[in-house]
Amino acid sequence: MMPCFSFLKRKPHFLPGHTGEIDKEVSSIQNTKFYSYKKLRVATQNFSKANKIGVGGFGSVYRGILRDGTMVAIKVLSEESKQGTREFLNEINVITAIEHENLVKLIGYCVEGKQRILVYEYLENNSLEQTLLGGGLSSMQFSWRKRCEICLGVAKGLTFLHEEVQPHIVHRDIKASNILLDRYLRPKISDFGLAKLFPDNMSHISTRVAGTAGYLAPEYALRGKMNQKVDIYSFGILMLEIVSGRCNTNRRLPPEDRYLLERIWKLHEAGELITMVDSSLGNDFDATEATNYLKIGLLCTQDIPSQRPSMSTVVKMLTGEVSVNEEISRPGLPYEFFGGKTDTKNSSYGISASKSGDADNMSSSSGSKTATSFPQ
Ligand SMILES: Nc1ncnc2c1ncn2[C@@H]1O[C@H](COP(=O)(O)OP(=O)(O)OP(=O)(O)O)[C@@H](O)[C@H]1O
Ligand SMILES: [Mg+2]
Repeated sequence: MMPCFSFLKRKPHFLPGHTGEIDKEVSSIQNTKFYSYKKLRVATQNFSKANKIGVGGFGSVYRGILRDGTMVAIKVLSEESKQGTREFLNEINVITAIEHENLVKLIGYCVEGKQRILVYEYLENNSLEQTLLGGGLSSMQFSWRKRCEICLGVAKGLTFLHEEVQPHIVHRDIKASNILLDRYLRPKISDFGLAKLFPDNMSHISTRVAGTAGYLAPEYALRGKMNQKVDIYSFGILMLEIVSGRCNTNRRLPPEDRYLLERIWKLHEAGELITMVDSSLGNDFDATEATNYLKIGLLCTQDIPSQRPSMSTVVKMLTGEVSVNEEISRPGLPYEFFGGKTDTKNSSYGISASKSGDADNMSSSSGSKTATSFPQ
């Protein structure tokens, strides 16, 4: 499926403080609905606390009910999004045209004065972070079959962004909180294309590194190098989380257990991968399949980016169309440099940071700064 960009005319909107030219551009956005600030204020009961679902790096998210009864998620972008109206609308056009069953759909937007707001389809079952990895706070159970479906769905969504959409899109922020679940627990990737709305988007990533460090590929964390392989690394971490039911980092555990990737790599070397499958599954899982899934996670997190499989290959491995490569090289562990475990000898990454970004002609580019403030 390719996004189409046929620009149908829609009724022009009056936007306070905008020129007629911009109004025309707003009106040229097809498929995406323009919502006035007033409408969204009504939908969210004046952006009430009770309707606030969460706060992320891009701003606050509210639950809202539109006049026709549709439930939506309303993301109020923070001030950092200093983009001009025209650039903003261009990006909205691109995001809107991207439709896939495993991607959260953008259904509307608001641009009024300094306000930049995105209106998304509402996903009933929260994110994987709040449910599967919610530390027992959620009563939701994920069977082995469901976990397989979730891995496959996310892999398909990412394949679409990486290999089918033109120009290709690097998500840059694949993590459990960006995998939302619909009423049937089908996964949808959220926030693709958003990095581009923030001109200084490396700082967006680096200021939030504390929460997401475990998903960051070393070449990105250390050198700002950005391409699909960075997403594939994050996807690998996510797979390890889905199979084990554990967060990538848990500082309450003893040092040797703290980092999921490191732990799983050691068990792989010892031939004991199976012990990492979520114990809450009991014996209700296919052991060969589960071991293979962990191996796919390890393949995706290999230190050398070129050794990581493409997402379409990952899909084939997940469906059994392609066998899982048994030769897996050591994983990239970026925190080795920051957590006092400096293992520079064995790594292909130098500590000398500040190389300029390499976007490999991707749509989501501009990784030009280095996240130097990595937390302990
Ligand atoms: N379309 C949606 N439907 C339902 N809930 C949503 C939707 N989008 C976001 N949320 C909820 O809002 C919370 C905050 O989302 P947000 O994307 O702002 O933050 P995040 O995912 O934690 O971090 P990041 O800014 O890096 O994406 C999410 O954890 C999710 O539970
Ligand atoms: Mg998000």
